[in-house]
Amino acid sequence: MRVGVLSGGGDCAGINAVIRGIVRRAEVHGADVVGIRRGWAGLMEPDLLPLNYGMVEDILGVGGTILLTSRTNPYKKEGGPELVMKNVKEARLDALIAIGGEDTQGVAHRLATLGLKAVGVPKTIDNDLSETDVTFGFDTAVNVAVDAIDRIRTTGTSHERVMVVEVMGRDAGWIATHAGIASGAHIILVPEEEFDIEAVCAAVLARKRAGKNFTLIVTAEGARVGMKKGQVTTAQELDQFGHPKLGGIGHLLAAEIEKSTGLETRDVVLGHILRGGPPLAFDRVLSTRLGVAAMDLVAKNRFDRMVALRGNAIVDVGIEEAIKPKVLDPGLLAVGRMFG
Ligand code: F6P
Repeated sequence: MRVGVLSGGGDCAGINAVIRGIVRRAEVHGADVVGIRRGWAGLMEPDLLPLNYGMVEDILGVGGTILLTSRTNPYKKEGGPELVMKNVKEARLDALIAIGGEDTQGVAHRLATLGLKAVGVPKTIDNDLSETDVTFGFDTAVNVAVDAIDRIRTTGTSHERVMVVEVMGRDAGWIATHAGIASGAHIILVPEEEFDIEAVCAAVLARKRAGKNFTLIVTAEGARVGMKKGQVTTAQELDQFGHPKLGGIGHLLAAEIEKSTGLETRDVVLGHILRGGPPLAFDRVLSTRLGVAAMDLVAKNRFDRMVALRGNAIVDVGIEEAIKPKVLDPGLLAVGRMFG
């Protein structure tokens, strides 16, 4: 049996650990693993890298993805899906493991109608896939954010400033909420609900009146400000999956706060720092388990399924269900908002 493996979409810590898990488990099942470089792009213009355990045994703690990644969408090209299937056949791949979020796995699911036998592995720092308790990469991203925010706190308190920290999270406020709670943020803003900039300024001023000269605001990049409507973007064009390039809400907010309250305000964008670097232990363990489980699913001929974490168990779920968005827990956000 020959099994292809690709990583698509934004990278995150733990992809290499998944690949290592897949390759190791494939040995047990007597399968060959072929890496596909740059996500779906590597099946449109074939770019294959046969893998053996010697090549991957030392990548457990290495960030990024040795297979490279892209946001290529075969459905954006005339005849793209058919081309992918032709190349899958020519590469003699019996099955494919797609490491990705809703976009990458959405393609795998659509290609099932053309005969692709695919298994998905849930990857995204945004943690927004509905059928898994957590996606790998999220825990590392939150910890990196908290480490950075702890540093931002000490400089912010010393200067008695308002500090606005923008974290990733396109449509989901999981990172902002977890990082906000864990770093003791006073205000947390998420994409799931539009916020009123005047209310934010009023909260900052209320803290000042109460003698609290430092205010920490954690905002998701996808947070929507009432007066502007919609998300703040850095470019007009959309990617191949229709997503805008987000960024700038923190800067906009900081400028408005300073103008409206007269308080010195600074903003910091953590951005891709949250995606890079080595996975922490939780993600190393989760990624390894998910990689092994994905290979086991292939060996059992169970396709159009995604491996997932439920409680302490690794289970599998239909990809179509799995890629639905995981809505931020309002109770969690409410806890985060108790400390303003
Ligand atoms: O992968 C998800 C994500 O990290 C989002 O949180 C963010 O909006 C996006 O990727 C950024 O992608 P890019 O690397 O293309 O700038």
